[in-house]
Amino acid sequence: MEHAWQDFGQKVDLTARLREILINYPEGTSILKEIVQNADDAKATIVKFCLDYNTYPADAVLSPAMRAFQGPALLAFNDGVFSEKDFESISRIGDSKKREQLGKTGRFGVGFNAIYHLTDVPSFVSGEHLVIFDPHCKHLPAISAANPGKKINFVQHALQPSLAHQAAPYQLFGCNTASYYPGTLFRFPLRTQAQADGSTISKQVYTPESISALFDDLRQEVQLVLLFLKSIRSIEVLQLLPGQAQPQLLFSCSVANATEAVLQQRALFLHAASAPADEVVAGTYRLDMAIR
Ligand SMILES: Nc1ncnc2c1ncn2[C@@H]1O[C@H](COP(=O)(O)OP(=O)(O)OP(=O)(O)O)[C@@H](O)[C@H]1O
Ligand SMILES: [Mg+2]
Repeated sequence: MEHAWQDFGQKVDLTARLREILINYPEGTSILKEIVQNADDAKATIVKFCLDYNTYPADAVLSPAMRAFQGPALLAFNDGVFSEKDFESISRIGDSKKREQLGKTGRFGVGFNAIYHLTDVPSFVSGEHLVIFDPHCKHLPAISAANPGKKINFVQHALQPSLAHQAAPYQLFGCNTASYYPGTLFRFPLRTQAQADGSTISKQVYTPESISALFDDLRQEVQLVLLFLKSIRSIEVLQLLPGQAQPQLLFSCSVANATEAVLQQRALFLHAASAPADEVVAGTYRLDMAIR
């Protein structure tokens, strides 16, 4: 016999929701622009994109199913750090905590999810934490639909040697997954054919060549991207080839005439945007942007 009152209600299937977001969300450089915009909102000053061609060892990872995500990836670094609010915000789709904060560009709480065009398992290191998302709930160990990801404080709970390979791809841009990281490093392992076959988010395969093409498109638009930012002064695009110790620069764009006066003007905008409307003072200034 059934109980009088059963648990029942409307639920959202996460991968279906992400699929829906991707349908309404263009592929291409907008994916990169969403990352830049979030970094700008986090008051970062520099963003670096890096195409990592490496395939890292995969024996000491969280689960056998995670081995498939040690291959080529898009990395995105910025020098902002996630606040508690940011961690909360990124885990709640469509409920941006920025809406009530003036001066933030983000509004809808979906932009980050454009990244699911190219990966099924996005992850990032920020401050003391490593976060891994697994919307399918089938790659990470002991995972549930209620919490489809993992977050570890690696300063308080040192990553075990048994997870050495899991941490290997993040040893870049000053990150060591052991001590506090004064920045944020995203890693988006590119969706392979095998992963696309098993994905209910997207059937799109991404290769290092497709990211390279994306970088070429960004090169055409990067000045315009930089023009509309508040805090970011420089965007660098790099690649890390197998066997290389350091990533090599492909191109970069930065505010070239970053004199104190210009920076103050920019800071003024940043400040003004977060001040009450009647205090807003708009200045005029010229930005020289150089692509190297
Ligand atoms: N680089 C970052 N540094 C700090 N927090 C970040 C960063 N990237 C994302 N976040 C957090 O993740 C949240 C989700 O980002 P997302 O882009 O999906 O939403 P949003 O920026 O609030 O709104 P929108 O959909 O309009 O972009 C952000 O609100 C922010 O709190
Ligand atoms: Mg955003």
